[in-house]
Amino acid sequence: MPRRIHILPEKLANQIAAGEVVERPASVVKELVENALDAGAGRIEVTVRNGGKTEIRVADDGHGMGKEDALLAVDRHATSKIRSEADLAAIRTLGFRGEALPSIASVSRFSIETAEREGDGTRVLVTAGQMAGVEECARRRGTTVSVRSLFFNVPARAKFLRSTAAENRAIGEVVATLALAQPHVAFTLDSGGRDVLALPATATVAERVAAIWGGDAADELIPVAHRDGGIAVTGLVQRPHSSRPGGRRAYLFVNGRAFADRTLVKAVDRAYRTTIPQGVYPSLFLFLEVPDGEVDVNVHPAKAEVRFRDRIGVERAIEEAVRAALAGLESTPSIGARAAMPPPVPYHVPHGFGVSRVREAARPFGTAPGSSAPADGPAPGASEPFEPQMALFVAGGGLPSPPPAAEAKPLPGAELLGSAAPMWQVHNTYILAETRTGLILVDQHSAHERVLYEEIVRGFDSGQAVSQRLLFPITLRLSPAEYALVEQVSGVLERAGFEVEPFGGRAIIVHSVPNPHPYFDAERCLREMVAELTDGSPLVESARTQHQRIALSMACKGAIKAGQKLTQREMTELFDRLFATELPYHDIHGRPTVIQLSLAELHRRFGRSG
Ligand SMILES: Nc1ncnc2c1ncn2[C@@H]1O[C@H](COP(=O)(O)OP(=O)(O)OP(=O)(O)O)[C@@H](O)[C@H]1O
Ligand SMILES: [Mg+2]
Repeated sequence: MPRRIHILPEKLANQIAAGEVVERPASVVKELVENALDAGAGRIEVTVRNGGKTEIRVADDGHGMGKEDALLAVDRHATSKIRSEADLAAIRTLGFRGEALPSIASVSRFSIETAEREGDGTRVLVTAGQMAGVEECARRRGTTVSVRSLFFNVPARAKFLRSTAAENRAIGEVVATLALAQPHVAFTLDSGGRDVLALPATATVAERVAAIWGGDAADELIPVAHRDGGIAVTGLVQRPHSSRPGGRRAYLFVNGRAFADRTLVKAVDRAYRTTIPQGVYPSLFLFLEVPDGEVDVNVHPAKAEVRFRDRIGVERAIEEAVRAALAGLESTPSIGARAAMPPPVPYHVPHGFGVSRVREAARPFGTAPGSSAPADGPAPGASEPFEPQMALFVAGGGLPSPPPAAEAKPLPGAELLGSAAPMWQVHNTYILAETRTGLILVDQHSAHERVLYEEIVRGFDSGQAVSQRLLFPITLRLSPAEYALVEQVSGVLERAGFEVEPFGGRAIIVHSVPNPHPYFDAERCLREMVAELTDGSPLVESARTQHQRIALSMACKGAIKAGQKLTQREMTELFDRLFATELPYHDIHGRPTVIQLSLAELHRRFGRSG
């Protein structure tokens, strides 16, 4: 066997920033498991005692080392992973500094037992950085490193160790993170004789999430798969309606390496805007693949952070990737837990993925992908205005058509409409419709909130608010705080279709109002909006701008209410408009607009084999 290890040139060795490699037992676990992964292990067993303070042992079945390499491995700047500066720029292994083992060995009773083939093993013992023995040993291929009495020779460091429970938590987190990065590697974590993690090798991140946190956690996730130029983003994010305040799990990986980055997590949160309220943070497991040279992994002493050459591009790719995932049918809940299980996400999904697959899922019966609507139904995406029914409005103006949607998308609802499939209103609240794969239930209020929100925002952007001039203006009396608010935002209100004139003495006159649907009660909507904007609410607090606050509030207060009977045509219209929105499956509060029930799930529940 050729020698693997060589001493790095001085310059390069210095270039690789030496740092606090070993902060606590979890950092030892991280370094040792990373070494095992770099050695191509298929199975990694981590055993700790007393939170790793007494002993940490990591055993792998990787390629192991010969005697010469085993001796070199504990030398500073001894690595088999890079040779030159150029290698550092294109690093694909987790280690590259040649620093971990000597650092760990300098603050513990350290032993490494390793063999390149069955039987022919070497054991190297180091105590507090002093070589304490080299011997032959019989063992299987692979490596076992044992680290006992961490920091026994540096009491100042030992003092900072936390409770066993806290150190165990940190170790569990480290193993979970590395296990997510490599689902095809089996992991076990034994803490004080207790099996904490037992993760069989799997093909997908979703299965790994299920093995670590349970099937329910995995069921809440939807797949992400997106490419933007050289940047690929895959993985899983949580459905908006499953997300809760606190307790988020946020894992980012680049080229197989875990890293921490608050601003990228914020980019994910931006993608969720208008689908979840303020203070709710979805879980995320995102895997970036970027070309060599686009990421610098040598910027943090514990390799916990990375630096991207094109930061903005990475943020954009992440935001777009999550947005696209949220726009798909899979982001809506399914009745039947297994049906909700996200499809397998391959660990590396480099090319040619897209979201079109998920959007085809609910094609109506008998229609081919991309086929157009039968002649008797409205064309997909076409919208006819609701019929005017309110006496409030001046006759003759007709009803405004909504501003055109950005683009007609081949969404399931639109196609479903095109088939002129009948719909049923259930308790004047939900709309039930048949789809190609089963049925969907739509919450009419939630759905209309989404529609209105996006229409109002488009109206702001185009400067074309649709509004009706009132024959008899309405006068509203407000509280002083409400009056002050209306004075302040009257310009934005006007752009949303409410032309109001502060009248003094806390009264306002309303000259024009928008007319989004026949059951719209303009006065009530305006009163409720003004109250909400004055008092605040989780919904309006989730907005960044005054325009967004007003759009959210108006969508919420102005949308068709639950309990409102709708005609067949109005239901059709609502579907058309809903599936022309950017995020049709999410209302603006963090609730789903659509719930699916697949035929397969129905068969299962009725005991039909299929
Ligand atoms: N479990 C293992 N199996 C096989 N070889 C190993 C193992 N652990 C360490 N080695 C060898 O020992 C060398 C030194 O390991 P060490 O962790 O100190 O440095 P590194 O992994 O190269 O870089 P870094 O300091 O960034 O982790 C590695 O380059 C590798 O060749
Ligand atoms: Mg290493």
